[in-house]
Amino acid sequence: MPNPTPICQNDHGWVIETRTTAYALGMNSAGMLAHRYWGARLPRLEDYPPAPTPIEWASFNGAASIIPLEYPGYAGTDYTEPCLKVAFADHVRDVVLRFDRADIEGDMLTLTLKDAHYPLTVQLHYQTHVEYDLIARWVTVINAGDAPIRLERVASAQWHVPFGGDYQLTHLSGKWYDEMHLRREPLLPGVKVIESRRITTSHQHSPFFAIDRGHADETTGEVWLGVLAWSGNWKLMAEVTEFASTRVSIGINDWDFEWTLKAGERFTTPYSLGAYSAAGYGNASRALHDFIRDTVLPHGRTPHKVLYNSWEATFFAVDEPSQIRLAELAAEMGVELFVMDDGWFRGRSLDNAGLGDWTPDPVKFPNGLNPLIARVNALGMDFGLWIEPEMVNPDSDLYRAHPDWAIHFPTRQHTQMRSQLILNLGREDVQDNLIAQIDWLLTHHNITFIKWDMNRNVSEPGWAELGEHQRELWVRYVQGVYRVWGTLRERHPQVIWQSCSGGGGRADLGILRFADQVWISDNTEPTARLGIQEGYSMVFPANTMEAWVTDSGAPYVPLSFRFHVSMCGSLGVGGHLLHWTPEQRAEAAEHVARYKAIREIVQFGDQYRLISAQANAFSAVQYMSKDKTEGVLFAFRTHLPTPAILPPITLQGLDPEAIYEIEGFEQPRSGAAWMHAGLRIELHDYQSALRSIRRVGTNS
Ligand code: DGJ
Repeated sequence: MPNPTPICQNDHGWVIETRTTAYALGMNSAGMLAHRYWGARLPRLEDYPPAPTPIEWASFNGAASIIPLEYPGYAGTDYTEPCLKVAFADHVRDVVLRFDRADIEGDMLTLTLKDAHYPLTVQLHYQTHVEYDLIARWVTVINAGDAPIRLERVASAQWHVPFGGDYQLTHLSGKWYDEMHLRREPLLPGVKVIESRRITTSHQHSPFFAIDRGHADETTGEVWLGVLAWSGNWKLMAEVTEFASTRVSIGINDWDFEWTLKAGERFTTPYSLGAYSAAGYGNASRALHDFIRDTVLPHGRTPHKVLYNSWEATFFAVDEPSQIRLAELAAEMGVELFVMDDGWFRGRSLDNAGLGDWTPDPVKFPNGLNPLIARVNALGMDFGLWIEPEMVNPDSDLYRAHPDWAIHFPTRQHTQMRSQLILNLGREDVQDNLIAQIDWLLTHHNITFIKWDMNRNVSEPGWAELGEHQRELWVRYVQGVYRVWGTLRERHPQVIWQSCSGGGGRADLGILRFADQVWISDNTEPTARLGIQEGYSMVFPANTMEAWVTDSGAPYVPLSFRFHVSMCGSLGVGGHLLHWTPEQRAEAAEHVARYKAIREIVQFGDQYRLISAQANAFSAVQYMSKDKTEGVLFAFRTHLPTPAILPPITLQGLDPEAIYEIEGFEQPRSGAAWMHAGLRIELHDYQSALRSIRRVGTNS
């Protein structure tokens, strides 16, 4: 096949091509902008079907039930889920979008649509990421008139899969301490809604969907997949119409949402990324991983240091001597970054005070943080710190000075969760205060890592000053978080940030523009973690996945198992080192050294989910360097009734012609043999294995 052309145009409309996939849209004979094709790239431009034309339908059927409209407005006889709902100043709530023009610039296609009557312009943006086999879509809505226009829904995209087919929807759901379960269910006529109403991305659901025809697996079958780059309320609606037209809308949640566009103003949605894979889920995940590492993360190509985090060891009882004792032991084990978690700031003895006042507690740190940081640095480690900037305890100087800064309704109870309220980051004065406080910390201390936490969901979402525009809070809040984080990142570009929200409450492509890592769960029990890690890997690459070895799981889960689980991501240690025996610390040092030898493969290589940990008590995952010369295989057995026969592990991603050596096996074999005949690793309950894979020659 010829090289892909990022965007082509002909009489039928536009074709967006990536390395192996294509997406086509165009005008149908009735003048509707409709979806034409999403799937494998075809050899010739003429191969892509034209936009479907309306057929005769009964008076009970709207066009959108049959025609896959590219970006339907709520109008006319369309009863399916629209992308755009607006109210004009004269109270008309019917959007009739007509095609105006198309602009192609390199890898970007922008289609401009205009309302037939009102000065409303909608721009549909498509950006092709040719090498990643991904297409990004987002929308700008412009009020080109004098009167305000109220937006009630503005989705980022509606993704259509081919007509018909008994589709299965895969999504990620869970709860705090139990995130990222892969759920799979048939898509039947009607609408399946998955969303967050919590002001953050949420532990409960992820802005991610994948659709297949029921027989795709990790390596085979067609998969259509999408994500949304947004860290606030979001909504995904998978709809199957009465004519088996199947589509997924994704965007900012329209629940309790509204946005007033004043004269001349514009509103831009977050982008949604779409992927088509002809070779199963693993392939689609790897495309997302590469894209995130290469284009989204601030430091996507910098290997993450092995860190120690104090939380599960000392909880709030941090002070200089206790942290130095831990730091000394961590340094002996080869840890490179020492992170002091919660408890270090003014008034913070428990979780009921201090949030909002980001200066060191004078009792715990009478000389400030610098003596501790100096000691950590002298031990050869970088220093990192925990903060929770979006929160305030009523027992804090910040709250006493600015009680109105918390999100609240004046006549209602201020519901506290973990004794805290949420600061209204939509307000510029709140943003500026936080920027100043955290900037002070980063300017006056040698801090190279920040864990940014967020430990509750919203309640009483009021903002008195917004008056009748109350419902803008949801979006303004997220924009505020992005502004604070973005400003700090710009001022302190060397800092690595971690996104934490009581574990995995804020994992999305929006936050990864600022944070290089995610703390994916507060649950550090390693057998539970295996499943959470697998779910997370559907979308996110291993380098973004901070994973600590703690005391959770001990003693029934051995230290080696605990390390192996965490070595599948960005390794950290969070156990109480003072309680570890010298032998355990020596063993830990060996694991840390081993991790350093393989971390480039794990963090930057291709990940293959060989045997699912969510579905099996015996699981395996493999990482291969991009040039296929080096790899690492992890296998885990949790609990299986005995006697149990463990299945062979068939590797993936090797060069079939090349010869590979695998640790623990005497005989080198061809890549084809390891991938088809496989290998066996015998493990007892709660045992694990780490095996290096090395290319040693070619099959000549
Ligand atoms: C929740 C986080 O997920 C934990 O790792 C820890 O940082 C605590 N918050 C601290 O309060």
